[in-house]
Amino acid sequence: MVPRTVSVVNMKGGVGKSTTVACLAEALSSEGQLRVLVIDLDPQSNVSMMLAGPDRWAELRNSARTIDEYFNQYVYGGQPRFFREFIASQVSDIAGDPPLDLLISTPEFRYIERHALEKWVSQGFDIRQLNTRFGRLTQSAIENVGDSYDLVLFDCPPGISMFAEAAIELSEFIIIPTIPDYVSRLGIFAFRKRAIRSMEQRRFTEDRIWTLITKYEESNTLHQSEAALLKDQFNVFDTVVPQAETIARAAEWSDARRTLDQKYGEAANVVRRLAAEFRERVGLI
Ligand SMILES: Nc1ncnc2c1ncn2[C@@H]1O[C@H](COP(=O)(O)OP(=O)(O)O)[C@@H](O)[C@H]1O
Ligand SMILES: [Mg+2]
Repeated sequence: MVPRTVSVVNMKGGVGKSTTVACLAEALSSEGQLRVLVIDLDPQSNVSMMLAGPDRWAELRNSARTIDEYFNQYVYGGQPRFFREFIASQVSDIAGDPPLDLLISTPEFRYIERHALEKWVSQGFDIRQLNTRFGRLTQSAIENVGDSYDLVLFDCPPGISMFAEAAIELSEFIIIPTIPDYVSRLGIFAFRKRAIRSMEQRRFTEDRIWTLITKYEESNTLHQSEAALLKDQFNVFDTVVPQAETIARAAEWSDARRTLDQKYGEAANVVRRLAAEFRERVGLI
């Protein structure tokens, strides 16, 4: 059984990428009983913090179980460890030990790409070959753990990174969270071209690229009109994620385990709807 692979991406920051990954991962693993692996590709480590909490994150970092260390071993050499050894099992503060695993990122991750570039370029590799190399490493990592998961979610950094490129290249589906305003809509056009190319190369059609409206303010007339435009122009989730204090608060780790309702408060049902629609879209029913 091969897991479904999904990248959550947007060139813009602050649009709710990491929040979307955390919500989906928690709802699908706790109530949906799917075995989920989250891979944090962002040096800001937001989803790592959300799902592991600061103490476990520090422990994992101290024991070199991070995405930087996984790639590091290929940049600096040495005896490679299996991908599965880097993964933290059963993360999240949701009660009931949901089958939700995580590969954390750390701020140092931002240097790996630079080091790899310097080293491999000095050995005569060009950028395309580097891309291919990162892509292969990521692909073989997923194959290494494929049997253990139903779903792999990549949380991508804003902007361009080779790791995000690799994730996009191997993902079967792409979710673009976006705030419904003019500037954000412009950003989607640029990014979608890249995503469509990747889908076409694999003989997929572009209906695997989905926009998710986030931070929606019901009484904001700009949000209303922009959301309507997004729905006209793109393949958009029916579920709209509202701007909600409870969603922002859910990002903070709680040492006491909590249910989905306790964690997401009045937004819990939106999180459930999002998870249900996601399942249908990726075919994990
Ligand atoms: N639906 C929402 N309602 C309120 N706050 C949100 C919502 N989604 C995200 N946030 C908050 O907005 C900020 C950016 O969200 P985040 O998921 O980190 O975005 P990104 O990963 O795209 O940079 C965070 O502080 C997060 O808690
Ligand atoms: Mg993020």
